[in-house]
Amino acid sequence: MKILNFGSMNLDTVYQVAHFVGPGETISAEAVSVHLGGKGLNQSIALARAGAPVYHAGCVGRGGETLSELLRENGVHTEYLRPCGDMQGSAMIQVTPDGENCILLYGGSNQCLTEEQIRTTLEDFGPGDWLLVQNETNLLAEIVRQGAARGLTVVLNPSPFDEKIRTVDLSLVSWLLINEVEAFQLCGSSDPDTVRAYLHARYPSMNLVLTLGTDGSAAYAGGVSVRQAAFHAEAVDTTGAGDTFTGYFLTSLMRGEPLADCMRTASCASALSVTRPGAADSVPTREEVDRCLI
Ligand code: RIB
Repeated sequence: MKILNFGSMNLDTVYQVAHFVGPGETISAEAVSVHLGGKGLNQSIALARAGAPVYHAGCVGRGGETLSELLRENGVHTEYLRPCGDMQGSAMIQVTPDGENCILLYGGSNQCLTEEQIRTTLEDFGPGDWLLVQNETNLLAEIVRQGAARGLTVVLNPSPFDEKIRTVDLSLVSWLLINEVEAFQLCGSSDPDTVRAYLHARYPSMNLVLTLGTDGSAAYAGGVSVRQAAFHAEAVDTTGAGDTFTGYFLTSLMRGEPLADCMRTASCASALSVTRPGAADSVPTREEVDRCLI
């Protein structure tokens, strides 16, 4: 069993600011640093550090070589990455003293996937394998359609949420991983039971994980429901916390661990990640998570 992540890779420029810049305002950043990120790459790193056999598929643009190197250094399989002539995808991230962030994305190379690349990549995967996607690449609906047609278990993290998500056939999705903002955008509510009822009425076989920031998280799968409190953490930078949660949750799930254990491990890993700056850099190792769970 292996997991294929068709996902983005970004060069993140992170500005430490007193507050988010407003319309028409100019402010000075207190510090700036460049990190490696992108929701796809962060989730592949989290899967690999958690111990999953992960294959990252996507496009490497101009200036993006360090991103594929980082994947390889972390044990992620990179043979399904393809070069493209566009600039590497990037993000401009503001981080405030309490660790909150806001993000401006440039898609670049992450928008270069082709139907042919999707088809040839998926030829090496089949029933028993898992497919993970976010919403930072093009052809999302096509990846989900082809992945489900080949019998993969499809996991969708519809982040960042936009109208493109409405083009995806959600009846093909086995696991939907969303935060409270995305839940509101998709279902008109972020109340866990309301979100569950809304989705269950439309997609009865879909399993759901809803993260709620400091209010913890909730999961619903095959009649089982779990509420998990957030682990306490002194937040330095919340960037990548959701991606860390996703990687650790899915690794436990693929190993067949009980849902409550999957949620606890993922919550712990994501709490550790917010205590550190950066995105991929902030994903804890398996040893760190295991030590924290004792
Ligand atoms: O989830 C965090 C990520 O969102 C950042 O690494 C940034 O690249 C954006 O994709």
